[in-house]
Amino acid sequence: MSSLFNRQDFPMLKRRVHGKPLVYLDSAATTLKPQSVIDAVSQFYSSHYGTVHRAVYQLAGESTAQYNAVREQVQQFLHAKSPDEIIFTKGTTEAINLVAFSCGQAFVQPGDEILISAMEHHSNIVPWQLLCERQQAHLKIIPLLPSGELDLEAYEKLLSPRTKLVSIAHISNVLGVINPIEAIVKSAHRLGAKVFVDGAQSAPHLPVDVQALGCDFFAFSGHKIYGPTGIGILYGKKELLEKMPPYQGGGDMIQTVTFEKTTYQPSPLKFEAGTPLIAEVMGLGAALKYVHSYGSDKIASYETLLIREAYEQLGQIEQLRILGSSRHRASLITFNIEGVHPLDAATLLDLQGIAVRSGHLCAQPLLNSLGCTAALRLSLAPYNTLEEISYFCDTLNRVLDPLRR
Ligand SMILES: Cc1ncc(COP(=O)(O)O)c(C=O)c1O
Repeated sequence: MSSLFNRQDFPMLKRRVHGKPLVYLDSAATTLKPQSVIDAVSQFYSSHYGTVHRAVYQLAGESTAQYNAVREQVQQFLHAKSPDEIIFTKGTTEAINLVAFSCGQAFVQPGDEILISAMEHHSNIVPWQLLCERQQAHLKIIPLLPSGELDLEAYEKLLSPRTKLVSIAHISNVLGVINPIEAIVKSAHRLGAKVFVDGAQSAPHLPVDVQALGCDFFAFSGHKIYGPTGIGILYGKKELLEKMPPYQGGGDMIQTVTFEKTTYQPSPLKFEAGTPLIAEVMGLGAALKYVHSYGSDKIASYETLLIREAYEQLGQIEQLRILGSSRHRASLITFNIEGVHPLDAATLLDLQGIAVRSGHLCAQPLLNSLGCTAALRLSLAPYNTLEEISYFCDTLNRVLDPLRR
């Protein structure tokens, strides 16, 4: 069976690693790029290069028009109400830090509470810890059920009138579980709390409709959705963005500056200080066009097919323990093998051309709670094939043999 994406579009798939064809199974960390994305960045630098917003010459006009068009593309991709709700950031991490800083300053008082879950990536833990330290607020953790799913009863009990914000992964980068965002949002809103959704692992794999989810903020990273590194998106509801102070100061985000007082542009420019990531934005535009040409629905069903097969085949490997038993999972599986260190297994797999993630997966608290400090993770994209999954499982079995003795 062939892949959903045309593998010929991805030059990296022609690479050999240690003399073997590359089998890339680390797309949750970062995805490979189609030629159209590489070309968009390169064409911008070679044919249209100019700054945005600041000049009247033709090139600046072309850049500004393209830059604004990508903002509209992102608005459509997320089904946001207005392009003014789309802020370009460096990535998911910066989007979370922006909200933790700005929203924290505007809405969080000493004694208030921020809720996150026990399955969060470090990016969705540390900015909230910093906010709580600054504002003397409290960070509360929603526990998980033994299946790895969120304990929603515990969540309801943790919510209180002091909860100002709930920040939660749409899809866990370790357990692959898809969290019930609509339900989480409804409960939070009943008590007046805002909800931030970390969509780093969902935007590349599922159709996302921020209005249907009802969330107040949503973030994702361009490099995980076939785009360049260094570009990400923060979606925020307009009425909230209007009330939030700027995150950084500099050019582009101001209306007037005097030594006595500065006034700011409305959102999104208020949050985009300095010369923006113009080439990266162009690349993101090409990436979203590529994703759109297949459709997020088709991507989700193809990946479900692949991950089910991987789940079946991995389940047959002796002494292999999959972290989290939820079957409602996206395109990744994290596991451990008794008696084998994940780094040893990943090194041996690399020698066979297979790239998988090993280590703490930027989720030390979650791994600790599952009784390990490191794990192996296989994560898929629509350029992967069933043959690659079988090759991976066979190779894993083969390289493990001597380690098990
Ligand atoms: C769930 C989740 N949140 C946040 C991030 C951070 O993304 P970035 O490093 O692109 O900012 C990642 C990256 O792995 C992630 O998987």
